Amino acid sequence: MTTSTASTPTLLSALRARLMPERPGAWLRATAWASLLANALLVLTGGLVRLTGSGLGCPTWPRCTEESWTSTREMGVHGAIEFGNRLLTFLLVAVAVLTFLAVWRSRRSHPGLLSLALVLAGGIVVQAVVGGVTVRTGLNPWVVGVHFMLSAVMIAVAAVLVGRARRASLPQVAAEQRPGQVGGPAGRWLRGTALAVGGLAFVVVYVGTLVTGTGPHAGDAGEVARHTFDAYVVTRLHSLPAYLLLGVTVLSLVQAARQGWPATVRRPLALLGGVLVVQGVIGYYQFFTGLPVVAVALHLVGAAVLVAVVGTVLDRAFAVSAPAGEGIDGGARAGATTAV
Ligand code: HEM
Repeated sequence: MTTSTASTPTLLSALRARLMPERPGAWLRATAWASLLANALLVLTGGLVRLTGSGLGCPTWPRCTEESWTSTREMGVHGAIEFGNRLLTFLLVAVAVLTFLAVWRSRRSHPGLLSLALVLAGGIVVQAVVGGVTVRTGLNPWVVGVHFMLSAVMIAVAAVLVGRARRASLPQVAAEQRPGQVGGPAGRWLRGTALAVGGLAFVVVYVGTLVTGTGPHAGDAGEVARHTFDAYVVTRLHSLPAYLLLGVTVLSLVQAARQGWPATVRRPLALLGGVLVVQGVIGYYQFFTGLPVVAVALHLVGAAVLVAVVGTVLDRAFAVSAPAGEGIDGGARAGATTAV
């Protein structure tokens, strides 16, 4: 009896120490990666809902039907797929709660980590409501586009959290990404390039949702509203900023070599160039072959990876070009010399 009452607090404090560490460490890195993967998974499963024509598998929201919260056997595979996508919300909530707990006790030394965890948690609520509006408006393509863009922003934020969790907990990463490495005009170039990359990526992805909204994969087998754009023109408008983005990426790699930007920035820029090329090849392939679902799904995965890489480029560019000694996440306040 005595043993069990004595062991209960010990167990609780062990659990608290594990789930709510005093300093960022391996647990925070794990929850940050889980946030990134869960948000990327949501884009993929959302895409599968659309590509299998299951968009109105659950015809209403928040209930699946007027009578039931869940899909029923009679609703068939479409109901199961749509309901499965809704269930993913619970996984996202669980991951968001664990991430929040993981950053809570280090909130004073690393307030930026807490802000990112809060944005990720708040984003789930917004996404659930926008998902509901998507169903209630009968898959209006403008609303579907907003739903996708929110997921894209969540993926970018989760990628930033992954980067900052690593920087806050791994000394070698903090040293690699310390502020003050790229100052003066080179620093301004680096920040300008990163902002151009972020802005162009936003345009490419948003216009991509307009292409989808114009195309045949409406998300449901029934009558669903579509954009009335010319498919050829809107696809051209989608690929044009993709070329610009590739151009800016190549130019920035040249500039990186000339101005000696650190490898921690050059690596994600090179990766971005590679992802853009692969994504472009898939884009043209699907365009010229009548949008086969496997290619469209791969294009979606590519978009998720691209957004995560863009978030990383932005975060690292601003970290290494911050004034020396100024941590972008409270590092200076905590007495650290690195941007965490
Ligand atoms: C290289 C950067 C690119 C990115 C990041 C990108 C991203 C995207 C995104 C996010 C979507 C919308 C997905 C959805 O709403 O479910 C989309 C759709 C589409 N993209 Fe791209 N894309 C890129 C390049 C290209 C290129 C070069 C082409 C070539 C023509 C292309 C062709 C298409 C087509 C045809 C669709 C509509 C697919 C459908 O109807 O389901 N993309 N893209």
